[in-house]
Amino acid sequence: MTDAPRAASTRRFTFSAGHRYWVERWSPEENERFFGRLTVPHGHNYTLDVTVRGPIDPETGMVFDLGELKRIVGETVVDRFDHADLNADALFRGRVPTTENLAIVVWELLAPKLGADRLAQVRVWEDPTLYVDYRGPDG
Ligand code: NI
Repeated sequence: MTDAPRAASTRRFTFSAGHRYWVERWSPEENERFFGRLTVPHGHNYTLDVTVRGPIDPETGMVFDLGELKRIVGETVVDRFDHADLNADALFRGRVPTTENLAIVVWELLAPKLGADRLAQVRVWEDPTLYVDYRGPDG
């Protein structure tokens, strides 16, 4: 008997959120010098691509129940961040809400629910010209 073929499946989500870049222990002048206009509160329409991996179930033909994936990411990430101020979220206390840190935070929210062995990648698009990939602390 051979092992089931493995694959990776990606589902896309969107949400809109506001943020500003600001390092608390820096002076306002240092923040403005480094971040410039990004210190001013503004919004983005984010796109989130969540990739799960694993063996393809021989009965369902799926790597993961994609309806279940939609529900979990919706409840855990989209409901939390859509129309939210990222700087006000406890997960960004002491973390500048950059696209990099948003990808890490999304991973930290999803890994316990999907299983770190099933979650392959989180890709966060801040806009059509910028995205960040995160594949976990070991990736
Ligand atoms: Ni921004």
